[in-house]
Amino acid sequence: MTTIPSARETADQVATAIRTRRSTIRLTGPAPGPHELLDLLAAAPTADLAEKIIAKHVRAPLILALVFQPRDHPTIPRWEQLAATSAMATTLLLLLGGIWYGGPYPDAPQVRKHLGVGDGEQLLGYLYIGTPIPGEEPRTRVTADVRPKITWLGDTAL
Ligand SMILES: Cc1cc2nc3c(=O)[nH]c(=O)nc-3n(C[C@H](O)[C@H](O)[C@H](O)COP(=O)(O)O)c2cc1C
Repeated sequence: MTTIPSARETADQVATAIRTRRSTIRLTGPAPGPHELLDLLAAAPTADLAEKIIAKHVRAPLILALVFQPRDHPTIPRWEQLAATSAMATTLLLLLGGIWYGGPYPDAPQVRKHLGVGDGEQLLGYLYIGTPIPGEEPRTRVTADVRPKITWLGDTAL
């Protein structure tokens, strides 16, 4: 019998994944194969599927080029579609492991042509996917003081 974790357990696991995730620069295999990749992409949907993904193996076991495809929509403006696509990319990094690179020359005609980025589309960079090199320590996480970034409305202030 499959035991479905409680919402609390799931929330704890997600919180642990977020707290321990590190972008990893040097990657090795394994990386997801085509079937696993499709499954994982399906698990990280956006409200509006304003993205396409081009998969290739080059400097990491798997590189996904993330292409933003804004659509005219009566209620969802372009910025919201971009926000949804970025959120999806972050979820994918949690699922897959790796690092998001902007990469050079995202607007260069040669790059756009090579990747098949169409008119009105925008290359959002690359997700380098793979497995951390065994024995290499993850990069240390710098704990930022986020208090100056928070504006409290009302009496609460820390
Ligand atoms: C859209 C986007 C583009 C990025 N481009 C680069 C890049 O070109 N080079 C780089 O070193 N880091 C880049 N980063 C930052 C890394 O992906 C990563 O977030 C950063 O190194 C912090 O590590 P952390 O995710 O473990 O906190 C980019 C991040 C985002 C969201």
